[in-house]
Amino acid sequence: MISKASIDKIFSTVRVEEIVGEYVQLKRAGANLKGLSPFRDEKTPSFVVSPSKQIWKDFSSGKGGTAISFLMELEGFTYPEALRHVAKKYGIELEENQRELSEEEKQAQTDKDLLYKIHEVANHYFQEILWDSDEGKSIGLSYFKERELKDETVRKFQLGYSPEKKNAFTEYALEKGYEKEILEKSGLSIFPENAPAGIDRFRERVIFPIHGFSGRVLGFGARILKNNAKTAKYLNSPETEIYHKSNVLYGIYQSKQAISKNQLCLLTEGYMDVVSLHQSGIENVVASSGTALTIEQIKLIKRLTENVTILFDGDAAGIKASFRSIDLLLSEGMNIRVLLFPDGDDPDSFARKHPQEFVENFIRTEAKDFIDFKAEILLQEAENDPIKKAEAVRDIVKSVAFVENPLKQEIYLKEISGKFGLSEQSLFNELNIQKQIQKNQPKIAPAKEEKQKLEIVTESGFSVDPLLFLEEKLVELMLKYGDQILELQIAENQTHKTTVIEEIIRHLEEDDYEILSSVNKKVVDEIKSGIQNSELRTGNFFLTLMDENISEKVADAFAEPYETSNWEKHKIYFQKEDELVPKIVNDVIIRHKREFIVKLIKELKDQEEIAEIEKYDKIIRLNEIRREIDEELFRIV
Ligand code: CTP
Ligand code: MN
Repeated sequence: MISKASIDKIFSTVRVEEIVGEYVQLKRAGANLKGLSPFRDEKTPSFVVSPSKQIWKDFSSGKGGTAISFLMELEGFTYPEALRHVAKKYGIELEENQRELSEEEKQAQTDKDLLYKIHEVANHYFQEILWDSDEGKSIGLSYFKERELKDETVRKFQLGYSPEKKNAFTEYALEKGYEKEILEKSGLSIFPENAPAGIDRFRERVIFPIHGFSGRVLGFGARILKNNAKTAKYLNSPETEIYHKSNVLYGIYQSKQAISKNQLCLLTEGYMDVVSLHQSGIENVVASSGTALTIEQIKLIKRLTENVTILFDGDAAGIKASFRSIDLLLSEGMNIRVLLFPDGDDPDSFARKHPQEFVENFIRTEAKDFIDFKAEILLQEAENDPIKKAEAVRDIVKSVAFVENPLKQEIYLKEISGKFGLSEQSLFNELNIQKQIQKNQPKIAPAKEEKQKLEIVTESGFSVDPLLFLEEKLVELMLKYGDQILELQIAENQTHKTTVIEEIIRHLEEDDYEILSSVNKKVVDEIKSGIQNSELRTGNFFLTLMDENISEKVADAFAEPYETSNWEKHKIYFQKEDELVPKIVNDVIIRHKREFIVKLIKELKDQEEIAEIEKYDKIIRLNEIRREIDEELFRIV
């Protein structure tokens, strides 16, 4: 864990305009800076940076935040990754705090650092051999030429070559002072008894370094030069402490910006597919590198986008792999399209045969949604056999059962219903059967941990739980105006002074209200413990907290003047903000109270354990309070 002191240091040093300025051309516009959104294609700048507030807001995508959250959005960094990145840039030394590491843990940490280091060294070495040695140039580089790769592409992916000599790299690394033990742990060398000078894992192969999300080399893939049935075409790094095959996606480092910007990730199978598509100008592409797609890999993509187009070979193996990937992607909430390349082509060969625009168009127009795709493949097999047809439908509904979002499920079922002329009801029944079956089977996906996040999306236009919406607003008010003084009228000529924070917390506690969203709960808990220390924790306090969800929330609260349009969507009308803060606070509290009561009434109605009389008694009382509130609201409006 990075210490709070270090985080504070980072936040007080970093300049949002400098960080953003590395990616976006900014022009001054009054007190702010403006530029084109790095998240959406647009012609008129709607991306604003405020140097005074140290925040940014992208009006075309609705995103906004601090310098740190900008890096998280654009580079797909985690919070600590973004902090480390900034610390490095500004030369801030990080204090890593909390408990002392045990000797073993320290050792593991050093081992890991050494493994990263040795991979960096090896990566450098293989490239140097490729570009500067005779063997590298005549064999490795000419192989890449044969495959029509340009120099700049080879450099971009840091491709290399490992020479024929048995221990060329091992010797080099030992000379540089790296120990046998770490070389062995890295999988780059072995030291059998009969060859004490060591043997290189990769010999006479072209090298594809595999980068992690933030650009560190974690392992290598290495291809033989001639297709030869005797040896495996590709040899990869073994599992090590830093390389876990199922956690990496080839190309993610080089492609992440394009994936995020296009809001689409193309998923291929091979190293060459990624490299070749990049060379054709299509840069939003990764490869699962011949292994079956895993949840961890999907999570990497999900940091950047929820939209995936699977590009697989059109052979039987490709189809089978794509079916499996579809269900896994659906279970992670991704939106999928599928495109099989004409038999005999893979994305690499296809991209070399056709110009960029054609390939882009082909992907855009030929990729089918997963229902059409499965239907096409399965119906081909079924021909006119009604039983097989029913099987096909069942297979498709099975995929839909992996979707967790009920709204999406319904849309998919509607599509299937239209396509096959079946009633939605019968499909729905089938869906429930499939869900039952899945329940009793080992899940392909572990449970979702991000449910909360989904619920707070208010910009989508979907109806939102009004209680949650108002809860959001209460938190927003505390973040934005928390320390502002409120003068409450308590009797005819008596007022009582308090603050926005204290007033809202009082309301929440008075009603024993349970916070719905976990992010809000964190904020409120922090504010409460602040009160106990006689400290008013408002937005600025939260910006430096170790929590990206919170800092985004704060930035959102800061970035815009009170957005009345958003309220209007929910049929909640206000006059203008500013001096009206006390009034707005009062209003939101009352409305929140009302919705809370509505919810309590609803819950009571559904309750079975409680005696009827008692139940209706409570409901009647709650209804009375609600009526009073409605009257008060009526007076305000
Ligand atoms: N693969 C592997 N080991 C093998 C064969 C394949 O690890 N023996 C992985 C590689 O990551 C490879 C991917 O599976 O990139 C897809 O395999 P394939 O389609 O055969 O490779 P291509 O990338 O198309 O390679 P090339 O075009 O160079 O033949
Ligand atoms: Mn290929």
